[in-house]
Formats: sequence, C-alpha cells, structure tokens
Amino acid sequence: MKKADPSHQIKIYEQNRPDDTFGFGVVFSAETLGHFRDYDEVSYDRIRETFAYWDDIVTYFKGSKVPVSGNGFCGMSRKDLLLILHQCCREVGVEMEFQREIKSLDDLDSDADMILAANGINSWVRDEYADHFKPSFDWRPNKFVWLGSTKPLPAFTFDFRENDAGIWNLHAYQYNSEMSTMIVETTEDAWLKAGMENAREEDTVAYVTELYKDLLDGHPIITNRSMWRNFPMIRCETWIKDNVVIMGDCAHTAHYSIGSGTKLAMEDAIALFECCQAESDARAALKLYDENRRDEVERTQHAADVSLSWFENVRRYWDMDPIQFNFSLMSRSKAITYDNLRLRDRDFVQAVDKSFSAEAADRYDAPHLKETPVPPMFAPMQLRDMRLSNRVVVSPMCQYCAIDGNPDDWHFSHYTSRAMGGAGLVFTEMTCVSPDARITPGCAGIWSDEQEAQWKRIVDFAHDRTDARMAIQIGHAGRKGATKLAWEGIDEPLEEGAWEIIAASPLPYLPNSIVPREMTRDDMDRVKADFVAAFERAARAGFDMAELHCAHGYVLATFLSTCTNQRSDEYGGSIENRLRYPLEVFDACRAVWPEERPMSVRISATDWVEGGTTTEDAVEFARAFKAHGCDLINVSTGQTDSSEKPIYGRMFQAPFSEQIRIEADIPTLVAGNIFDWDQVNTIVGAGRSDLVALARTHLYNPYFTQQAAAYYGVEDIVWPDQYMSAKFAAFRQYERTRLQIEELREQAKPNTQEGRTGSFVLNKASEWEMKGAAVGAAAGSRREAAE
Ligand SMILES: Cc1cc2nc3c(=O)[nH]c(=O)nc-3n(C[C@H](O)[C@H](O)[C@H](O)COP(=O)(O)OP(=O)(O)OC[C@H]3O[C@@H](n4cnc5c(N)ncnc54)[C@H](O)[C@@H]3O)c2cc1C
Ligand SMILES: Cc1cc2nc3c(=O)[nH]c(=O)nc-3n(C[C@H](O)[C@H](O)[C@H](O)COP(=O)(O)O)c2cc1C
Repeated sequence: MKKADPSHQIKIYEQNRPDDTFGFGVVFSAETLGHFRDYDEVSYDRIRETFAYWDDIVTYFKGSKVPVSGNGFCGMSRKDLLLILHQCCREVGVEMEFQREIKSLDDLDSDADMILAANGINSWVRDEYADHFKPSFDWRPNKFVWLGSTKPLPAFTFDFRENDAGIWNLHAYQYNSEMSTMIVETTEDAWLKAGMENAREEDTVAYVTELYKDLLDGHPIITNRSMWRNFPMIRCETWIKDNVVIMGDCAHTAHYSIGSGTKLAMEDAIALFECCQAESDARAALKLYDENRRDEVERTQHAADVSLSWFENVRRYWDMDPIQFNFSLMSRSKAITYDNLRLRDRDFVQAVDKSFSAEAADRYDAPHLKETPVPPMFAPMQLRDMRLSNRVVVSPMCQYCAIDGNPDDWHFSHYTSRAMGGAGLVFTEMTCVSPDARITPGCAGIWSDEQEAQWKRIVDFAHDRTDARMAIQIGHAGRKGATKLAWEGIDEPLEEGAWEIIAASPLPYLPNSIVPREMTRDDMDRVKADFVAAFERAARAGFDMAELHCAHGYVLATFLSTCTNQRSDEYGGSIENRLRYPLEVFDACRAVWPEERPMSVRISATDWVEGGTTTEDAVEFARAFKAHGCDLINVSTGQTDSSEKPIYGRMFQAPFSEQIRIEADIPTLVAGNIFDWDQVNTIVGAGRSDLVALARTHLYNPYFTQQAAAYYGVEDIVWPDQYMSAKFAAFRQYERTRLQIEELREQAKPNTQEGRTGSFVLNKASEWEMKGAAVGAAAGSRREAAE
C-alpha cells in the first residue's frame, strides 16, 4: 500500500522486540514464493537470498527409510523473515513501533481509515468481538511441541516411530546452515503415558533427545517457549467489523502439516491490497475482502483438515508396507496424486506399482504381476469365485426408462457397451423387488419372469463377449418411492399414479413428500420375501455378485439411520436394534444366493446431519454385515435426510471408505467425484478402497478403462476382436497424450535439478522458483486448488 501510494500513512504496533519470534523455521512452496514475487520483488529477492532449498522428502517409518524426490520447497528462519519484512517496511516509510502492546482499539488513532488486527492465534480483538466475528474453535486432540536442533537434515524429514507410550510423528527440516526445526506430535494418550503432562522444557528435551537418539546423532535439542499444545482449527463467520479487519491466525488457522499458516497470513495482506486498489473507500474495500478472500482460505483450511486427520489417525496406516504408507502420506490432502508423483519421482511410483502388484500377485494368484507390475487400478481382484480383471467399476445408475420394471433394448445397449469398455465390474441400477418398491415408474425390477429373462440376456452377453463381471443392485425405495422421473423432478412425489409407500417410521423425505406408513411385522415379512425372491431370480439370471441396497435413505437404510428410525420396538433405538432388520434381510438373501458368489452391501457412511449416522457407526454396520457373510462394502454417503449438509470435493467419499476398509477389515468400493484414472490409481494404490466406481464418467465414456490402459501402456486388457484394429491406434494416441501432459506438467514444475541429487542446497535459488511461480502457479497448482 505504501509503495503503491507513498501518501498512505501506515503504522505497525508490535508488542515484542523486533527479533523476538516464536518457533524456528517457515516453509514456502514455489507457488507461494511466486505470489510474493508478483507483489513485491524486493522482499522476494531478499527471501530468496536467505532460504534453504530442498527437493527430497524422506520418511522414516518403523525402521525403513523411503525418499521421494522432486518436491521443491524452501525453508527459512522465521526471524530472518521478520527482519526482512521490517527492513522493507522501513525503506518505504512504514512506521513501526515495537514493544507496544495494544490492549484496546481505543489505544489506536481514532482517525485511522482501517485497522488491521493480526495479533495471532490468541487474538483478544477476535475474542472481545466474538459475537460479531463468530469464531469457532476446533481444538484437535493431538499434542505437539515445536523444537529446534543443530542436526543437519538434507531433506524434509518425516519420522514415525513407536515406543512404550505410543506412536510419535516428527515433521522436521533444516532452515539455514546451522539449524533445523522439529515438530514432535503424538496422541494425548501417548503424551500422558510419556509423562509429558506437566513437562517443563527441560523434561521435553530429555524425552525427545532419548526418543530420537539415532536421528539426532549427538546434536542438541533447542527450545523456544517449547510447551506442548493442541492445535486449534479456527474459523470466523466474518473477518470485518466497521473499519477493523482480522487477518492471519487470528482469523483462520491451517494445520502445520501443510505449512501454510504464514503463507495464508501474507496472502491475506496481498488480497486486502488488491481490494484497496479496486475500491477507494476503505469500508467498501474491507467488504470486498471479506467476500473475495473466503474461498481461497476455506480451500486451504479444507486441505489442512484432511492432512491433520491423517496425522491424527496414523495408527490406521501402521500395518501398511513402507511404500504404501508413504504413498498414503504423500497423497493425504489430494494435491499430490499418482500421476503427479510419477513426474516428481518415477522410481517411487514404480515402487508403488511393484509393491501393490506383488501383493495382488500373492493374494490373487497372479504370478505374472511380479514380472510385469501394473498401475494399481489394473491389478486383478477376487471375491469368493468372482475374479475381476481390474479395479474399475461402473457404479449403479438408475436409467428411469423401464416400462413396468422391464429392462429393454436401452438397458441392453447401455450395460453391454459399458461391459465392452473394459471395466472389471458393471453394476445394474437399483433393481426393485416389487412394483411398490420402485423409486419412480421408470425404475427397473426383478420380480417377474420377463424381467429375469431380460437381465439374463444382458448378463449372458457380457459373459460371452467381454471380460466384465456383472453385479446387480437390489433395493426397495421405501419412503423415497412413488416419485417423478429424475428429469421431471428428482425426489418430487408423483402427482398421479402414486402407490402406498412404507418405511421404518412415518416420516416424509421432503416436506411435500407422501408420508410413508410405518412398517408392521407383516410388511417386514413381505418385503423380506420379495428380496429373497429377487435374489433367487438374480442368481438364475447369472449375476456374479448381488448387492443389498442399504444406503441413500431407501427402505433398509431407514432402519439404519437415527434420522429416519424412530421405532420403539426391537428394530429401533440402539445400533444393534437398527441393524436387526437389514441383517435379517441380508441373512435371508445370503441363504439363497450361491455360496461361491460374493454379496455386497451399499451403505451411507454418514448422513451429513448432526446426530445422524457417523463414520464410526458405519464401521459398526460394516463389521456386522461382514460377520453375516458380506464380502464388500460399497461406501456412499448421505441422501438419507433432506436437511443434509454434504461436503463435496474431488474423491470426497474416499476417506470414509478408507476408515471402513481398515477399521472393519473388509474390502470396499467407493464412488463420488472420481473422474480420471489418476484418481483411481491414487485411491487404490494408497489403500483407500479396493475398487473404484465411476458413475457419471461412465455415462459419457463407456471406454474409460480401455483408454486408461492405453494411457499407461497396459497391454494385458481384453479388447474385443471386432475392435482390435483400434487397439494399436489407441495405445499410440494415448501415449502421445500422456507424453504431452507430462511435458506440460514438467514445464510447470519448479526446476529442481540441483535438488534432484537429494543434497541440501543453501542460497541456490535459481530458475526454479521463477518457473514455479510463473507457470506452476498459473497452470497446475492453482487449478488443482480451484478444483
Ligand atoms: C508448529 C508450527 C509450525 C508452523 N510451520 C509453518 C510453516 O512451515 N509455514 C507456514 O506458512 N506456517 C507455519 N505455521 C503457521 C504460522 O506460524 C502462523 O500461521 C503464522 O505465524 C501466522 O501469522 P500471524 O501474523 O497471523 O500471527 P503471529 O505470527 O502469531 O503474529 C502475531 C503477532 O502479533 C503480536 N501481538 C499479539 N498481540 C499483540 C498486542 N496486543 N499488541 C501488539 N502486538 C501483539 C505478536 O507478538 C506477534 O508478533 C506453523 C505453526 C505452528 C504452530
Ligand atoms: C443418473 C444416476 C443414477 C444413479 N442411480 C443410482 C442407483 O440406482 N443406485 C445407487 O446406489 N446409486 C445411484 N447413483 C449414484 C451413483 O452410483 C454414484 O454413487 C454417484 O453418482 C457418485 O459417483 P460419480 O461422482 O462418479 O457420479 C446414481 C447416480 C446417477 C448420476
């Protein structure tokens, strides 16, 4: 502001001395530095002269050491950063008053146009006007302490180790030629067991020195007000009040595991500057800031939430092999995926393919995979006798065009073309057990001989002519029945021709929905008998797998969720009671479904409603179905209660799948905003799901899997003889596409040549950040963030 117009008068009040700072180092990515450069070359150049640069992330995990290169970060001393910024302020005439504590807004010049309160995490400004700013504080359960050491670290270092107290996470890096910083993190339980509850700094130093004796190699641990703390995720509903704006940690925090708090604070200032350029009136500029800045901050906070959750749940990944553990760590917040890791470090991704293929080779008797590893999505999988040639699934999707529940030529063409497209498994839409079990008049059914014959025709074709296995999803719409076709009004009640609907409790889905009748025991017996008959028909039609639909608020789901089940009998109340009827139906279906064929269950792993199903409940559901013979949980979310507040994003259901897969120890299938093969490989390779379903993508692209095979050059995929002449062309075309994409991404990436040796580079800022700034920020990273 001062540089743009020297007539501005800007004063800074700081309670500390100029060189007091809490903590040790600060990390910036190439993109962040590029942003600084765009706005102030002077401070940027000085930062560049000071920082330490590294390329490798090295992870120590239970004695193993795995490096991943190509990452491009820089770190610097927090004190140096402050001193640089002070110097820049001094040069342009910004007034600074140190050792001046501001205790009230009245302490400030009353004629200021704007007051920028950036007084950190414990800000009294935010708290005094809490009724206005409406802050929320989510105190995270893990304990952490911020320390330093003279131990040189040639790479950004993670270390995960376990002692008698529990698991300890270390985030560490060197930030200048003499010093490294170390953040030590653990669970509250381990912290208590380690006797750190009332630890003084010297107790912490003694404990940490002993814990990391091998890593420290005799170097001392250094403290700087190093007390154990919990991290608060802070959010505020608004950041402005009259002429006051709160910024930085005072307004919003981002967990240290993504190293973005300082970046956010500095970019807040940049954003405010932009708003002041756009609006000459100070209050109008503040209003614009409050509106414009929110999306970017929320995106970073969301990435931080996902990342911190990984570190809080590290026990979940403890049994993974070191390569998968690292892949899970690297891809935790979705910004880094299988394909962009291939560019950063091809050897590491080859190791991912190799270890994933070797595991699949042993588990599914596929010895050739040891010789020729494939990307994770192309590893086969087997459930009972059903063998899938890859991990891609066509998700169940209603077609809403059956007449009297009969699949016709549309269904034949739709399903068989997707089977021809290479997916390992193709699901039918929700296929209803009786006419009154339909969602809409266009829903397909499996209650008649004619329907059974039509389904058999489709399944036979897929088996005879393709490599795909066929699964049928069998369901009953319950309170979501008797509604219009999707394109005429999704979930809207039929105006004519509606039938009676039933559910666990008499609660309508939408305020204007038909009120369902509460199911009696007779209804439960009839619906169960209808399910059993449907499973018998599906077995005769030749389906390889059958799924019981217990998600999305349909009849069985209404029993599972507290939002829809208000029963006072043995089918309502406790989780055991709510599971009772769905399990009874499952058992009855399992009894008639051939032993050698697998069964899956689709559940909503959260209702996205306060007080509704949580992921912990979903883990219990999965455990219960597994104990009754379920082979696979198809993990979905929501659609149970119309007041839901879902949080969408790329691959947004994968974390639910991961938790269920690991904690209930059952294979999972997940769908939800998964659009490309990179995401499929990331999810499967990192152990977040065994199978990945794509719904909408398969509507516009039946050949998704064959194209993925061509892209990665995986020759071992069944290709129809009739289309064989296109195989070579597709492989050549997609290889070219891949090379072009890789070249573009390579250009957009920081030039990390020096770092590639893995050596620690000081004062060597060269071209890399220029490229990273100009191209990376514009092309790759911002687009990813925006998504
Ligand atoms: C363990 C850990 C590691 C981190 N690592 C990174 C990282 O690598 N990269 C990164 O970008 N971020 C990192 N962060 C986050 C980063 O430290 C903060 O987000 C950042 O410091 C916020 O800047 P700020 O200016 O909002 O607040 P602060 O840095 O807290 O500054 C607030 C200032 O206000 C002053 N002040 C407070 N009250 C008053 C008053 N009443 N009167 C006058 N002055 C006052 C304080 O003395 C202080 O100087 C990390 C955080 C933690 C906890
Ligand atoms: C047109 C359409 C119909 C759907 N029908 C069903 C269905 O019958 N049964 C079901 O469980 N999910 C159904 N879904 C949900 C999908 O299976 C999937 O979970 C969801 O679309 C998210 O995947 P996507 O992001 O790849 O589209 C349907 C989705 C679409 C787009």
